[in-house]
Parts: sequence; structure tokens; C-alpha cells
Amino acid sequence: MIFTVAIDGPAAAGKGTISRAVAERFGFRHLDTGLLYRAVGVKGGDPVAAARGLTADDMNRPGLRTLEAGQAASRVAAIPEVRAALVEFQRRFARSEGGAVLDGRDIGTVICPEAEVKLYVTASAQVRAHRRWLEVGGDEAQVLAEVRERDARDMGRADAPLKAAEDAVVIDTSDLGIDAAVDAACAIVAARLRG
Ligand code: CDP
Ligand code: CDP
Repeated sequence: MIFTVAIDGPAAAGKGTISRAVAERFGFRHLDTGLLYRAVGVKGGDPVAAARGLTADDMNRPGLRTLEAGQAASRVAAIPEVRAALVEFQRRFARSEGGAVLDGRDIGTVICPEAEVKLYVTASAQVRAHRRWLEVGGDEAQVLAEVRERDARDMGRADAPLKAAEDAVVIDTSDLGIDAAVDAACAIVAARLRG
């Protein structure tokens, strides 16, 4: 069975949490595509060469989840040649046998416009920054500033900007707990699987 769940949205909206839960519930594979960009961002040197030569080791190195790595990811993600180098791997993953969940910024719009389910997971910047701050600590106002900066860069870039696909279902998690958000996503996937 070929079945793709595309989950897009801004930083700390809950994409990863929902993706992992959906993948587990339905036995699908999961790809956190943000990690590809984070790995390129922290590698240093020429980002295009880094994207073309990305290895499993690059994806497994520590420090990829930091705020700095997120900012570095968002900068290299605006380079069209970097994005182009990562497309094929993501498309193959999305259409691999057995079902796949991919979360990122352009999954439903660019990587897999034919996805069977498209979700756009979002929440207010304040709520998202608070969640990220609970994870990483530091100065909450600074975390909010970085979240806003990354949102603006991701939404404003010319190549594959962050936006909801026209046929995406929007899930706003501002006032939604994890369980409720996961249940909402799973119900949409289950309904589509039933046809
Ligand atoms: O993948 P993304 O950056 O969109 O977000 P995440 O890593 O899934 O979630 C960011 C943080 O928010 C995690 O600590 C989640 O546990 C938390 N979260 C939450 O409090 N309420 C939700 N409805 C979803 C996530
Ligand atoms: O978890 P969080 O939402 O904070 O970030 P992420 O999903 O790990 O993505 C890090 C950065 O990579 C984003 O801010 C985007 O600039 C970029 N990215 C992208 O351009 N396209 C994707 N499909 C995934 C991530």
C-alpha cells in the first residue's frame, strides 16, 4: 500500500509529536524532514555540497535539536540548490511501500502534492515559543524572537515557502492538548484509509 501523510506547519506547532503518534498507530514509517536541513545547517562548509553528500552520520550527530541548529537550518533551507538536493530522497520515502508520515514545511505543497492526507498543524507564536522554551530553557523572550524570525524566513522565501496546501486540513493546537491533537489527526487518517 502506498499512502502518504504530509504534515506541515511552523516551528514547535506539534508536527513531530503528531507524526510519531500517527506513524505508530498505523504502522507507517516516519521521516522528520527538518532533520535533513538541520544536518546541512550544522555541517559547515558549502551547504549545497553538504546537502548533496548528506550521510546517515550527519543525521545522527548530537546538537541537531538546538535553537542554533534550527536557525542554521532555516538559512540553508532558503537556498534552492540545497532543497533540490534533498527532494528525491524525501519523495522516495513518501511513496515507499507500507505507508509514510513526513513532517516539515513543504511536504503537502512540493514534496508530495499527491499525499492521501495533508495536515497543516499550527498554533500562536506565543504558545509555540513557550513550548520550545520548556524544552530548551534560556530566555523565553529570546526564544519567541527566534521563533518569529524563523517563521518569517520560512514563509517569506521564494522557493517552497511554508504555507498550507489548498487541500490541507488545519489543526490549530493553541488550545489543544497532545492527546486531543493526536486523536484529531488519527481520525482524519482513519477516515481516508476507509476510503
Ligand atoms: O515538530 P514541531 O516542532 O512542530 O513540534 P513538536 O516537537 O512536536 O512539539 C513541540 C513541543 O510542544 C513538544 O515538547 C511537545 O510535547 C509540545 N506539544 C504540546 O505541548 N501540545 C501539543 N498539542 C503538541 C506539542
Ligand atoms: O521542529 P521545528 O519545527 O522547530 O523545525 P524543523 O522542522 O526541524 O525545521 C528546521 C528548519 O528546516 C525550518 O525552520 C525550515 O527552515 C527548514 N525546513 C524546510 O525548509 N523544509 C522542510 N520540509 C523541513 C524543514
